[in-house]
Amino acid sequence: MGESTLSRRGKRREKWIKHYSSSHKILLVGEGDFSFSSCLARSFGCALNMVATSLHSEEMLPLKHWTSVAHIEELKSLGCTILHNVDVKDMHEHDTLKTMRFDRIVYNFPHAGYFLHLSETHRELIRRHKELVKAFFTSASKMLSKHGEIHVSHRDDHPYVKWELEKLANEVDLVLIEKAEFQKSDYPGYHHKRGDGRRSNKSFPLKECFTFKFSTSN
Ligand SMILES: C[S@@+](CC[C@H](N)C(=O)[O-])C[C@H]1O[C@@H](n2cnc3c(N)ncnc32)[C@H](O)[C@@H]1O
Repeated sequence: MGESTLSRRGKRREKWIKHYSSSHKILLVGEGDFSFSSCLARSFGCALNMVATSLHSEEMLPLKHWTSVAHIEELKSLGCTILHNVDVKDMHEHDTLKTMRFDRIVYNFPHAGYFLHLSETHRELIRRHKELVKAFFTSASKMLSKHGEIHVSHRDDHPYVKWELEKLANEVDLVLIEKAEFQKSDYPGYHHKRGDGRRSNKSFPLKECFTFKFSTSN
């Protein structure tokens, strides 16, 4: 850590990137190539406050995202905890995570997967997306610190608006506290990934995207 990140009293200076502070305890889930986590960690200059996770095993991830290798190396060098095989549906029961509480839990562009026979407008695929997000909300709400927030970045145009994020959150006693425009350029080095299928490492169009912020209603 460079001296420039220390205040005169020797304390680490708080650094912000968009909604995220170096003093937040941050859990990132459903990461693609870990470039979003890397972007935050680089901005903070230290990632001891971050846990970054993927659904995929250590062996499988580079096959889906060859770009993940360098990002994970960088994250580890900055002190980030990296976890594989973390399913957002039951992460509150994960051995390492179950005793931890977070100020921010971040899932960028949740998606239940690509299926040849199911287009994004297909009712069955929308049902799978909703099931994934609702289970994520349920699990994440058990892992929040006092005043903690769950952030989901998502497209808000057709057919993605049919996922009804706010309604799903309300069903598990979460409330929408803000819907902030999502601009990829706010996160230098972030490469959003499809994360599934033959084109896992490719991107997808970002239209009408927002970061939906939720907190517990009590
Ligand atoms: C559209 S990609 C977005 C990836 C990444 N968040 C980004 O912004 O580039 C959706 C991600 O959700 C992850 N995912 C799907 N189901 C999941 C689950 N049950 N638990 C954790 N991650 C999941 C996939 O592995 C994939 O990486």
